[in-house]
Amino acid sequence: MVEVYELWAVIVSLIVVKLCHWIYQWRNPKSNGKLPPGSMGFPVIGETFEFMKPHDAIQIPTFVKEKVLRHGPVFKTSLFGGKVIISTAIGLNMEIAKTNHIPGMPKSLVRLFGANNLFVNKDTHKHARSLTNQFLGSQALKLRMIQDIDFLARTHMKEGARKGCLDVKETTSKIIIECLAKKVMGEMEPEAAKELTLCWTFFPTEWFRFAWNIPGTGVYRMVKARNRMIKVLKETVLKKRASGEELGEVFKTIFGDTERGAETISLESATEYIFTLFLLANETTPMVLAATIKLISDNPKVMQELQREHERIVRDKIEKNEKADLTWEDYKSMTFTMMVINESLRITSTVPTMLRVIGHEFKYGDYTIPAGWIFMGYPYVHFNPENYDDPLAFNPWRWEGKDLSANVSRTYFPFGSGSRLCVGAEFVKLQMTIFIHHLSRYRWSMKTETPVLRRFVLMLPRGSDVQISEDTKTG
Ligand code: HEM
Repeated sequence: MVEVYELWAVIVSLIVVKLCHWIYQWRNPKSNGKLPPGSMGFPVIGETFEFMKPHDAIQIPTFVKEKVLRHGPVFKTSLFGGKVIISTAIGLNMEIAKTNHIPGMPKSLVRLFGANNLFVNKDTHKHARSLTNQFLGSQALKLRMIQDIDFLARTHMKEGARKGCLDVKETTSKIIIECLAKKVMGEMEPEAAKELTLCWTFFPTEWFRFAWNIPGTGVYRMVKARNRMIKVLKETVLKKRASGEELGEVFKTIFGDTERGAETISLESATEYIFTLFLLANETTPMVLAATIKLISDNPKVMQELQREHERIVRDKIEKNEKADLTWEDYKSMTFTMMVINESLRITSTVPTMLRVIGHEFKYGDYTIPAGWIFMGYPYVHFNPENYDDPLAFNPWRWEGKDLSANVSRTYFPFGSGSRLCVGAEFVKLQMTIFIHHLSRYRWSMKTETPVLRRFVLMLPRGSDVQISEDTKTG
């Protein structure tokens, strides 16, 4: 007769064996060849906590630096519950960007964007990009958007100067939402506009997270906010349709295509697409702009040069009796500002800017990168002294005489590369330039002790206030 304790001993032993096997498999993932070196960390959690340690925004994270020293430029790890290859090798990064087209993101983000999102789905991806180019590409910015951004930036800046203080992140966020909301929805009921803006309060930093959608967690709150926002968008469209009111340019473009029979985009997909643009625009530019303003504030020579450039533009317009509104030609003449923006995008790119899921098994030297793994390509070249002298110094003058309109090259790719190159790049540059133009017309400064950190996304734990005086410099 088997004793109870013997039975228990067998059960426990079986569980331990199973657990050990699972841990072994976790640490030694299957591959048809030799995987790049590196550690998979603890089961499920992997090395996420080390990876997500906050660090100075203009320093490559210690996690990556140490791994590169130990394993070389390409290594494996596990983050957010997924198997990941991190690469700082420019050749490999460019090759993967060229040949792999599925965006690499943890399941939490897939849930947020929607698995059938026009950008995520491979059958609609090209169409989503072409749609976006119709209202965020250079031509559309030049014809329509520049006036809106100019007006909003001017108004918000005046208001800030009147109060003596302006929160860069919050102000940029307001400008972007107001600007996009009008393009998307046309005129909106104030209640719906308020609700739309409110939804963003649920998207504070840290939206790059684990996949678990459990009540009480950040992902749960984000998904709830997403659903609420999509509901507001849908209801507004339906109401406008019912009353025969005009929709904004973006919806008109989307549904206009449908009418011509080019592509059938459901209201669900259309609202998800709009949501994606709002989310990406709101979670990137305000932070990068705030970091840029901090860099400028810490470098008085840069600030002086900017003031000179923008005073000249305002003075020229007054002398020529031109309207104060900024034109595309004014924008294109802001060469030093563009040098500042390029330099800021270079130095704050301390995250992977190419994120893909490996579509087919990939050979890299002796290594095999299996299909299905997430690939994160870091723009380490931005910090290579062979490409950039004294790479950690914020020095806009290093861009003198260079092609300032290029958003991607082998030594510079803050907006990624290949088929997933950021579609908002031109919009970002226009936003940042116009903001800097208006700010430079006031006396302003940001506290030196304002920390700018990264925890994958940029963070400003003590806010991004600038002290701004009503005392306009010109005009
Ligand atoms: C400073 C601000 C921004 C930075 C640094 C940035 C950077 C990036 C990067 C690195 C990628 C991934 C590229 C790749 O994997 O190769 C990307 C993709 C994307 N970005 Fe941006 N972005 C910014 C602002 C914006 C804005 C304002 C919008 C929209 C209004 C936007 C829309 C998108 C979209 C839709 C994609 C996916 C493109 C695709 O899958 O084809 N981004 N961005």
